[in-house]
Amino acid sequence: MDTSESIELYTFSGTGNSLLAANWFKTVANDKGYTCNVNLIDKRNPTLETSDAKLIGFLYPAHGFSLPWFALKFILRFPRATNHCSIFLVNCRAGMKLYKLFTPGLSGVAIHLPLLILWLKGYKIAGAQPLDMPSNWISIHPGLRKKVVDSITERCNGVMKNFAQKVLQRKRTFPFIYLASIPLDIAIAPVALGYFIVGRFFLAKTFFASHTCNGCKLCAEKCPVNAITFRHKRPYWTFNCESCMRCMNICPKKSINTGHGYAAAIIIGISAIPFAQQITEGIVHIAPKTYALMPGLINLTVVTLICLPVMWITYYLLQYLCRFKAFSSLIMLTSFTYYWRRYLAPTISAKSFIRKNS
Ligand SMILES: Cc1cc2nc3c(=O)[nH]c(=O)nc-3n(C[C@H](O)[C@H](O)[C@H](O)COP(=O)(O)O)c2cc1C
Repeated sequence: MDTSESIELYTFSGTGNSLLAANWFKTVANDKGYTCNVNLIDKRNPTLETSDAKLIGFLYPAHGFSLPWFALKFILRFPRATNHCSIFLVNCRAGMKLYKLFTPGLSGVAIHLPLLILWLKGYKIAGAQPLDMPSNWISIHPGLRKKVVDSITERCNGVMKNFAQKVLQRKRTFPFIYLASIPLDIAIAPVALGYFIVGRFFLAKTFFASHTCNGCKLCAEKCPVNAITFRHKRPYWTFNCESCMRCMNICPKKSINTGHGYAAAIIIGISAIPFAQQITEGIVHIAPKTYALMPGLINLTVVTLICLPVMWITYYLLQYLCRFKAFSSLIMLTSFTYYWRRYLAPTISAKSFIRKNS
């Protein structure tokens, strides 16, 4: 590749891992004399125009064994290849470290799906790299200790630099870990579909701001998908939320939490609703053949149709009641995230997520 040709990197990043990986790539490219631009995939950035770049990279996290819907939509809308352009993908996953052992995350279809889409759009595939950055999913585990974060990040920096060198030398690069996990990735694909519904309609609806929120609106300003609106001077998460964890980790007051106690109450409440079983039995009675054909899908649809209005109403109530200190304290104290460490990638802060028109 000629150094006069530019490289465009597009990154969706919740807590900065993918952004950091893009910056690492850019450093290698700049050292070799290439012009390399890092663009955030962000709702308020201007829409994409076809570029004459000869190499394009997409860097994004794994979410529920797939990629965030917003990032997938971006790739789906990406213009078709016009100039023998190559692409590469970097999927940041949940890396951990147990004693001295680095444990990998799992991409599921997060690489295969975009790879297929971009190949069908006519792009040449330069490579794909799963990157096991420190896990940021602090709704389900505490943020990792700084020492662990530093050691995982240092390792990933090396992996990324190596990958960047190979891609820039035009060597097609698919690391062993990517190829070895393909059977597991495919086996887990149905879970990715389930997560798509659970993530959007349930997980995102467990976020709340406690009474300590001072309404600074940083969360809404920095949300990559504009999912946070303000109601009665308090943040409110819409169904657009990708659960990327940015808001929770940049909140200066640490007011944003996942309501674990609230989520448990909702699950118990919904499972106690008697008519889901009756509706399903009704369907079995009316259309036994259709039910036999796709029982999983029908059950999921029934549960979703019941859960959606329940989630919407209870979430509205939760947000309303959180304005009162006694209620907010109760929800806050039953939230694990209140006690847990937060996470942002090293060297990344709220300021790193710059929007072109903000
Ligand atoms: C909602 C959510 C779902 C996740 N699902 C997965 C997953 O399926 N597999 C995985 O390896 N990591 C998963 N992770 C971890 C992130 O992919 C990982 O920490 C990534 O490095 C974050 O990158 P970012 O800071 O650029 O958003 C998930 C994280 C979140 C917040």
